[in-house]
Amino acid sequence: LSNGLALTPPMGWNSWNKYGCNVSESLIRSMADAMVSSGMQAAGYQYVNVDDCWQTGRDGAGNIIADPVKFPNGMKALADYVHSKGLKFGLYTDVGPMTCAGRPGSLNHEVQDANTYASWGVDFVKVDWCYNNGLDAQTQYTIYRDALSNSGRAILFSICNWGLYNPWIWGPATGNMWRTTGDIQDSWSSITSIIDENGPRAVGAGPGAWNDPDMLMVGNYGTGAIGGGGMTDTEYRSHFAMWSIMAAPLIAGNDISNLNQATKDILMNSEVIAVNQDPLGKQGLLKSDINGLQVWSKELSTLGTRAVVLFNRSASAANITVNFDNVGLNATASVRDLWTKTDIGSFTTSYTANVPAHGVVMVKLTGTESNSSGPIISGKTYRIMA
Ligand code: DGJ
Repeated sequence: LSNGLALTPPMGWNSWNKYGCNVSESLIRSMADAMVSSGMQAAGYQYVNVDDCWQTGRDGAGNIIADPVKFPNGMKALADYVHSKGLKFGLYTDVGPMTCAGRPGSLNHEVQDANTYASWGVDFVKVDWCYNNGLDAQTQYTIYRDALSNSGRAILFSICNWGLYNPWIWGPATGNMWRTTGDIQDSWSSITSIIDENGPRAVGAGPGAWNDPDMLMVGNYGTGAIGGGGMTDTEYRSHFAMWSIMAAPLIAGNDISNLNQATKDILMNSEVIAVNQDPLGKQGLLKSDINGLQVWSKELSTLGTRAVVLFNRSASAANITVNFDNVGLNATASVRDLWTKTDIGSFTTSYTANVPAHGVVMVKLTGTESNSSGPIISGKTYRIMA
């Protein structure tokens, strides 16, 4: 959506994956505090988003009411607090008459709600798809888009209709991000199936408009509100690397006030985040897959460079090779390991690494474009696909 927002994939935190309906003003304040004190804000995280269950009803004039017990000072005060930290504030609603948790949705209150959010200082609105009762998704999300854009405030619009009705086709003109899949769970099988669904849907993704394969599970270890049983640090590293190379929004979904070192190292790896936030805004693509040994490549804004994830979906360690010609580069490239932040050296034709089971090796290749005319089309942020 051309509203000047989300020129790179949005980064932030959302309450749902860890806390479900158990949201409150004190929780959101402490997460805003933690975003700063943990170093996440400095690493690029910006949005602090309340998901379902903050609403209780409407007043006589139809205005949405925040739960007065859980949010005793109201949403404007909470937004002010989040803003005072240099962060941005997000809220959740639904296209239908009710949210998934049975709270009031926005149907027939789109303009009123958008104006309320704007008056509270909301920066990000996620709009869910429960109780849609036969509504047309594109029509309904377009109504919401227009309500937000007429609200007088720049509000990032996050479409959450679970990948139904091909939002990657109409999403780019409608929202800043759109879900490509059903809900993530805290499990290896969930993230691999989401990758398989989200990976081929790169067509409409770019600055201002992103495929959203759902929020992160990194660091939940099975303790969140959503099922799945948890993942190992190796698997969380793969999850984060894949979301980064797919140019997905990086919305943490764990308790960021209590991060162990492994989770910090994943969520705040500056070189991996830089791949996600590269201003060219290209979603990385699957370049080869040999029995679950995959090579993913993302074009970056600097000519002759690629981010590459060697992704081992098999149950044992294996060598995975990226052939430079397969990612659009000439035969010689230097290789830097992005997790360890070390230069590995210069290689000819290909680079091979041993990758742990369910793990990744993530590298940056610096070489030269094999297409001698160069991949940039008329100076715009689009390129010929490698
Ligand atoms: C379904 C969405 O896909 C989730 O991300 C979350 O917002 C829940 N609804 C809340 O009820």
